[in-house]
Amino acid sequence: MFTDFKSLARSLPCGLVITDKELNIEFINDFAAQQIFSLSADKKSTNLKEHTFYTTDMRRFDMDNCMRSMVDSGKRTFHKTLVVKGGKQEKLVYFSVNALRENKGKELYLFNITDISDEMDCITHSPGTFGRSEYTLRKKIIGNDQKILDIYRMISLAADSEVNVLIQGESGTGKELVADAIHELSHRKNNPIIKVNCAAFPETLLESELFGHVKGAFTGAYKDKPGKFELANGGTIFLDEIGEISQTIQVKLLRVIQEKTIERIGDNKPIKVDMRIVSATNKNLREQIKKDLFREDLFYRLNVFNIEMPPLRERHLDIPMLSDFFIEKFNDSTGRAVKGLSREAVKVMMEYPWPGNIRELQNAIEHAFVLVSGNIIELQDLPREIIENNHSDTSSARQASGQNLAASVYYAEIFRHKKGGRLKISKEQLMGVLEMHDFNQSKTAEFLGISRVALWKKMKKMGI
Ligand SMILES: Nc1ncnc2c1ncn2[C@@H]1O[C@H](COP(=O)(O)OP(=O)(O)OP(=O)(O)O)[C@@H](O)[C@H]1O
Ligand SMILES: [Mg+2]
Repeated sequence: MFTDFKSLARSLPCGLVITDKELNIEFINDFAAQQIFSLSADKKSTNLKEHTFYTTDMRRFDMDNCMRSMVDSGKRTFHKTLVVKGGKQEKLVYFSVNALRENKGKELYLFNITDISDEMDCITHSPGTFGRSEYTLRKKIIGNDQKILDIYRMISLAADSEVNVLIQGESGTGKELVADAIHELSHRKNNPIIKVNCAAFPETLLESELFGHVKGAFTGAYKDKPGKFELANGGTIFLDEIGEISQTIQVKLLRVIQEKTIERIGDNKPIKVDMRIVSATNKNLREQIKKDLFREDLFYRLNVFNIEMPPLRERHLDIPMLSDFFIEKFNDSTGRAVKGLSREAVKVMMEYPWPGNIRELQNAIEHAFVLVSGNIIELQDLPREIIENNHSDTSSARQASGQNLAASVYYAEIFRHKKGGRLKISKEQLMGVLEMHDFNQSKTAEFLGISRVALWKKMKKMGI
């Protein structure tokens, strides 16, 4: 019977894999190997652990752990939507796993894997669904705080429209990342995004950068040169540090927006341009307007849609997730296998105010990669200012540390657990996680990376 099944299964247009409880593959059909895992025809994998799985919010999904909790809890079925990476390809797949008992009494597990990647494109941005844009954003703009989820929504809305967008926020909060995302998700994505750092040029040079010039327009103008507005035609122009532009350029920019034409310096022939303007600043432009340094009419033209990036200290629960993201990134680029941060290092990082925001966090992890000797980043591997902040004993720091400690401890544990360690969590911590998810057990279990049955058992044991 099993042999008949195999010959039938081999040619089915859906992925079928049979494994034992250690995920050793006993059978895999061609569809699973080639279409789902993107292996070449002469290759077969021998264990499912050879493949990397992600949840739809792009966190690593530990299949081994999931299997263990299925076995431990005696559960016979399991369903999940996951992302599978194979080479350069990514597939969104629906996994349904069923426990089978073979003749000889051995437990086997049948994975039925359906490729639902195409459906990604038809799902829209309605809340709670997994749309193409959210999928793209979650991979690039890391965070789980409501403030970041709101930013995803704003990006999707901005991308779907044609309006000019102003992104405000402190240095290092991800303004450029957001500008890129808006462009990539918009219908302009096949045309370029042209970036100009307005603070990097003196006034006359910036003018010629933006508008271009004709031969002989000024000394040194040896030939005609198109400006960035022309180069951005059909696409997006990203005007970074917009708060730095002079009054003269402000007037010219206003004209570009109103008339949708530019003139190269030294020429009065109008050239039509079609681009969306995304600008960014870490200055408070309303203050600049009050001081007569920025034109109010231009501000309203640029700020049709406003995105305000939150500083990292206002979403400090995202610190472990961001750290993890950068650790993976540096593991990839250096070929190392750093697993994570020690509990103490996470605690200190959660208490640090991060004036340089995410850029500073990324630099801190990079710094730690130079110093770390084992596979866990310890406190002493972090930059000095972060360690020293640990000893500053101001009352606000002390006050914050109570909350942060509870948060950081369970985060550190959860991350370690998700990377294959055992989950150690106290009753208080579990209560904290439950509370965070409004006592929704499915969401809590998913967050902790354990099954609902395993969560239920833990709660029962702890008397919750
Ligand atoms: N949410 C995030 N997830 C992952 N990486 C991020 C995130 N936010 C920012 N980064 C990274 O942090 C660095 C700084 O981001 P970015 O350059 O977009 O900030 P910025 O707001 O433009 O800063 P500045 O005002 O200094 O120009 C970049 O390397 C970016 O990739
Ligand atoms: Mg920037």
